[in-house]
Amino acid sequence: MPLKVLVAGKGGTGKTTTSALLSFFLSLRGLKVLALDTDSVPNLAQALGVPRDKALKIIPLTKNNEFIAKRTGAKPGEAWGIFFRLNPQVDDIIEKFGLRVRDNLRLVVVGSIDAAKEGCLCPAIALARAFLKHVMMDEREAVVVDSEAGAEVFGRGLAENFDHMICVSEPTVKSLDISFRLIEMGKNLGIERIDLLVNKVPPDKLGMIRRKVLDECGKRDVGAFFIPYDDSFFLSEMEGRGVDIYPENSPGVIAMNEAFSEIFSYFLRR
Ligand SMILES: Nc1ncnc2c1ncn2[C@@H]1O[C@H](COP(=O)(O)OP(=O)(O)OP(=O)(O)O)[C@@H](O)[C@H]1O
Ligand SMILES: [Mg+2]
Repeated sequence: MPLKVLVAGKGGTGKTTTSALLSFFLSLRGLKVLALDTDSVPNLAQALGVPRDKALKIIPLTKNNEFIAKRTGAKPGEAWGIFFRLNPQVDDIIEKFGLRVRDNLRLVVVGSIDAAKEGCLCPAIALARAFLKHVMMDEREAVVVDSEAGAEVFGRGLAENFDHMICVSEPTVKSLDISFRLIEMGKNLGIERIDLLVNKVPPDKLGMIRRKVLDECGKRDVGAFFIPYDDSFFLSEMEGRGVDIYPENSPGVIAMNEAFSEIFSYFLRR
C-alpha cells in the first residue's frame, strides 16, 4: 500500500509548512512523493521552494477550464446541466501537470474542491475528486495533501481517501479545541492513523503544554508531537522563500524531522 497523508488543521497553524517539510522528508528517504495543494489560495509551491514568479503562474487543476471541459465534456460555470462525465480520465494528470520540485518529488496544484463554494457537484470537482481517488501509486510512493483550513475537508468526500492524518495545531486552547474536533471527524470517517502536531510552541512553555496535550491525546489514542516556534521559518517566509532554505540544524526542522521519523516509522521500515 502507498502512503496517503492528509495534513489538516485550523487556518494559519502551519499546514503548508508541515506538508512541504514532510514532502521533502519522505522524498529524501527514497519514497516517490506527490504533493497536492487543495487550498483555494494555493501556496504549497512556494513553500516547496518553487521560485515565486513560477509559482504564481501555476493554474490550479480546478481552474483549468479548458482541460476540465475536455475531460468531463462540460465547461465549468456554463449551463452544463447534469450531463458531464463523473469518471473523467485522470491517469495522466501527474505527467501533464506535475511540477518537478526535486528527484522523487512532484507537485500538483489541485485548487479548492469546495463543493459549497463552486456549486454542488460541478465538473471541476468531479475531475478533482476522481483524481484524488484514483491517483495510482506503488508501494514506495506517498501522497501528501495540504488541505484547506478547517472542517470543510471532511465534508467533501475527500478525507475518506486517506489512511493517515496529521492535524496541525497552535498551542492555544482555542486551536487545540478545534483540532480535537477535527480529529474526531477524521476518526468518524475511518482514517486509521491520526497524529496531532502542536506547532509554534514557545520553548519555555513546552512542559506545561506537553502535559495538557498528552493527557487529551492519550484518551483518544492519538500521537502528540511538539514543534517549537522557530524564527528561521518566519524569516524564510518574509523573503517569500520555502522550507528548502530552512537551516537543517534549526530547532523547528529538527523537531519536525524527529516527529516524522516516529510518526511514519511503521511505513518507512517496511
Ligand atoms: N514552527 C514555526 N515557527 C515559526 N513560524 C512558523 C512555524 N510554523 C509555521 N510558521 C509560520 O506560520 C505562518 C503560517 O504557516 P502556514 O502557511 O504553513 O500555515 P497554514 O496552516 O498552511 O495556513 P493557511 O491556513 O493560511 O493555509 C507562516 O508564516 C509560517 O512561516
Ligand atoms: Mg496553507
